[in-house]
Amino acid sequence: MPKDRDRIIALVTGAGGFVGSHLVEHLLEQGDAVRGVDCFTPFYDRSDKQRNLSHVIGREGFSFERADLSRDDLTQLLTDVDVVYHLAGQPGVRPSWGEEFGEYVRHNIEATQRLLEASTRHRLGAFVFASSSSVYGDAERLPTPETVRPEPVSPYGVTKLAAEHLCNVYRRNMGVPTASLRFFTVYGPRQRPDMAFRRLVHAAVHGSRFELFGDGEQTRDFTYVGDVVEAMRAAASSGWTGTANIGGGTRVSMKDVLAIVESQCGEIDIVRGDAQPGDVRHTGADTTIAAEMFGYNPKIDVAEGIARMVEWERASFAA
Ligand code: UGA
Repeated sequence: MPKDRDRIIALVTGAGGFVGSHLVEHLLEQGDAVRGVDCFTPFYDRSDKQRNLSHVIGREGFSFERADLSRDDLTQLLTDVDVVYHLAGQPGVRPSWGEEFGEYVRHNIEATQRLLEASTRHRLGAFVFASSSSVYGDAERLPTPETVRPEPVSPYGVTKLAAEHLCNVYRRNMGVPTASLRFFTVYGPRQRPDMAFRRLVHAAVHGSRFELFGDGEQTRDFTYVGDVVEAMRAAASSGWTGTANIGGGTRVSMKDVLAIVESQCGEIDIVRGDAQPGDVRHTGADTTIAAEMFGYNPKIDVAEGIARMVEWERASFAA
């Protein structure tokens, strides 16, 4: 933190998104000032992102700017900023094929390079990049340590890995203090509407149908959003740089997830769809580096996290 100020100024890109909006809340609770930025890509309904932001708009210490990192001038955005949390991007593994790939290149690679370039002109304490477990593809070891060679199986994963490499290049050559955190399928209230838990909880609460892709034996190291945002701030505060996994601590199959949701909400109407190209079969995080370097210790298990999502879904419906 600079000596002439008693408060960290954080820039959060993708502030209107699922993880971004939780991070903004967490940082404000911790006493940081936050500049949020988002360009509201049409990947999902803009009103969802505005609802996410409604929790923080008007709160002391928060300001918001609409900007597209891949096109706009970023000089002013970084003025006085101590820490950058870079979450903006084009998300989603399954839609990253075909014509859409250009959007992934633009928002995940070009935007990251432009933000890193702009960061070279400021003395940042930390630059935390939201990377993804999808960089691993079908990893040869589970739980997977960061030393396993990444081999993405989706175009999305390729763009996240390219962005990680850019973070490394700008750290080694330009001194930008980058830390890439590989998030493992983050879930919680306000999760993106294309993701499994959001759809599943919606189906359970509203009695609609859930389409299960594949046989349900695929596993994920699902990670609760509250644990993720704590990890991001802890990484920034520690001054550590490098690449670290952020996982939830256990590998759970989709079949087990269905059983957990049904135990909380009753039977769900499930239809079986095809396994999707780009989906990995299993993910599992070895989180030794995050634990040792910045004290990462996930607290919320899948049953508890799902219960919080169910409560949120019911409350949003009632509102
Ligand atoms: C998620 C995010 O979408 C990515 O942005 C992120 O980078 C990635 O996690 C990661 O952590 O690497 P994914 O694991 O596919 O990707 O997350 P979910 O959408 O929650 O899917 C979990 C499993 O449920 C997958 O096997 C998927 O095929 C399945 N699923 C998803 C369904 O069966 N039905 C659906 O409607 C959606």
